[in-house]
Amino acid sequence: MKDVYILAIETSCDETSMAIVKNGREIDSLTILTQMDTHANFGGVVPEIASRMHTENITMVLEDTLKKSKITMNEISAIAVTYAPGLLGSLLVGVECAKVLSYVYNKPLIKVNHTLGHIYANNINNEIKYPTLALIVSGGHTDLVILKNENDIEVLGSTIDDSVGEVYDKVARVLGMSYPGGPNIDKTASLGSPTYEMPIPMNNDSYNFSFSGLKSYIINLVHNEKQRNHEIRVNDLACSFQNTAVDELCRKVELALKNTGIKNLILAGGVSANSFLRKKITELCNKYKVEFHVPNIIYCTDNAAMIGAAAYPLYKASIFADYSLNAKSNETIKKYFDNK
Ligand code: KG4
Ligand code: ZN
Repeated sequence: MKDVYILAIETSCDETSMAIVKNGREIDSLTILTQMDTHANFGGVVPEIASRMHTENITMVLEDTLKKSKITMNEISAIAVTYAPGLLGSLLVGVECAKVLSYVYNKPLIKVNHTLGHIYANNINNEIKYPTLALIVSGGHTDLVILKNENDIEVLGSTIDDSVGEVYDKVARVLGMSYPGGPNIDKTASLGSPTYEMPIPMNNDSYNFSFSGLKSYIINLVHNEKQRNHEIRVNDLACSFQNTAVDELCRKVELALKNTGIKNLILAGGVSANSFLRKKITELCNKYKVEFHVPNIIYCTDNAAMIGAAAYPLYKASIFADYSLNAKSNETIKKYFDNK
């Protein structure tokens, strides 16, 4: 079969990214322009600023992606774009750009769910083996799912309140660290000890997660200690929080490994870059003799390479979008599979 080159676009949050992906697995060219430094001034992503910056940057990112590639627009097989979920104004910039490129160069258009992209990041350096358990941990999602095959998913559990990434960012903020907090907590926690007592997030046998109690507990603790002029041992508190959050994720994964007997596990989403989570999940998989894969760090957080990887099976199945395609701020991975 002729090689397939997909030009993929990702603008769902605060990264303007484009990639050219060969046959769903080889990254020919990748550009990620992050707005992180701008949003850090506000302690989190400001949606209006994000969409404006995507508009300003998108043609530059396209030029850069093409310049780094040996492929020209004429040789591209299809244009893929993240259309959901994410910030509406941000998604719209990518979707409109994809439609224009598809129309002008007469290439098929492929719509990709962002969470599916995070899952397919696992196909870049390894190959997803089905069935597999997948723990999806990002700034917007915390889900434990079974991927039965390319077209079938079963959601075992999800967060009933905050996502784990959101809580990493909030805890980091209250501890005075800059946005995004996840990588900062990761570093700081490695310097501390888990000496603060933490509440157990959801002490039952469901596969669901709950992190808002843990978040509120830490915010209150920091405020109370400050009011009393007590010293906050930042490294220890970061470590205590991270141990509790990661333990909770691992507890549910272990339950699923035991109950389902599935022998493959993948991590997906920004928090899968976390070194402590990777370590603990590796230990768990060794214990249960489970094959474990996680994307390379660069493909864990938002990037267009994963969108190109997720678009490839859709290209092979000739599942194309038309120009009525619109951005959607909300679409769970379950809903995406149900509507496929
Ligand atoms: O997947 P992602 O890039 O964007 C969404 O789709 O949400 O995830 C972003 C989240 C942020 O909450 C960020 O703090 C977190 O991933 N993150 C981390 C690490 N790197 C990124 N959390 C913990 N440890 C890290 N090393
Ligand atoms: Zn993401």
